[in-house]
Amino acid sequence: MTTELEQQLSTLQQQATDAIAATDTLDALDQLRVSYLGKKGQVSKILGGMGKLSPEERPRIGALANQVKTAVQAQLEQRKADLQAAQIEAQLKAETLDVTMPGVYLPQGRVHPINSIIDQISDIFVGLGYTVAEGPEIETDYYNFEALNFLPDHPARDMQDTLYLPNGQLMRTHTSNTQIRYMENHEPPLRVLATGRCYRRDTVDATHAAVFHQIEFFAVDKGITFTDLRGTIQLFLEALFGEIEVRLRPSYFPFTEPSAEVDVKWQGKWLEVLGCGMIDPNVMKAVGYDPDVYTGFAAGLGVERLAMVQHQIDDIRRLYASDLRFLRQF
Ligand code: DAH
Repeated sequence: MTTELEQQLSTLQQQATDAIAATDTLDALDQLRVSYLGKKGQVSKILGGMGKLSPEERPRIGALANQVKTAVQAQLEQRKADLQAAQIEAQLKAETLDVTMPGVYLPQGRVHPINSIIDQISDIFVGLGYTVAEGPEIETDYYNFEALNFLPDHPARDMQDTLYLPNGQLMRTHTSNTQIRYMENHEPPLRVLATGRCYRRDTVDATHAAVFHQIEFFAVDKGITFTDLRGTIQLFLEALFGEIEVRLRPSYFPFTEPSAEVDVKWQGKWLEVLGCGMIDPNVMKAVGYDPDVYTGFAAGLGVERLAMVQHQIDDIRRLYASDLRFLRQF
């Protein structure tokens, strides 16, 4: 004969089975465990009624209660394992890296050949102990010409067709203005390098641009001679190009005496790349140096021309055309 307790136990087991199957979080599952198997849980409650049973019934019901308990426990554990496995699987799925996804395209930048050669030349001179200085691109007649010993109305001013501003200032025609500005504020001995843009009313062709770059270098000390200048130029050009044919030609600049121009062999022809000379005593006087005590040399390089020699570029205009097919080669 089935007792009421037996009935309750089997109903309980059925309910537990359904509830466990319907539970989909570990927390809810733990609450179920407490409510069925805990000290004050439903199985304990039913067992509490065993005192009223007859001695013959007791072992039978007791065994059944244990069976239910064990079964519910096993179901709880199985469900727990399943939920944990599902949780790990979901986490793995969420954290999966799809290595077949296309990457983010970052176009690679390049250093423009002009900036690149300026960096290289600066490194060479800094290695020789030179200081890097700067001067303004908008300049007065005094710093661009007068202090550099260009007399007013001197024909040498025609050497450099100048762009004048409405206020009487001008766009500097060369970086030699930095010589005056630097020397005015510093005492010898000094070795200085200055880079920058220059402007001229030049007709643009394969080797001339109206806006271009120069690098000026100069040194002032006691006992500096033309030999020091020659040696510096030779060392610098070899550091930049390796072996290259170089020649010095006597020339004229108002701010140097004697003066020379330096050519390098480029595509079978001589190409002028820099002007140089011993700083003229009048320039020394303009900045307050005593020309009987100090001597110095100075030089100005055409950056574009050196870049053309370095990369075998046939036309200066390519450096300013911003054609990516050209620029990507560097
Ligand atoms: N300033 C000259 C030019 O633009 C270049 C130059 C020649 C610079 C001789 C110098 C120098 O410092 O000594 O053509």
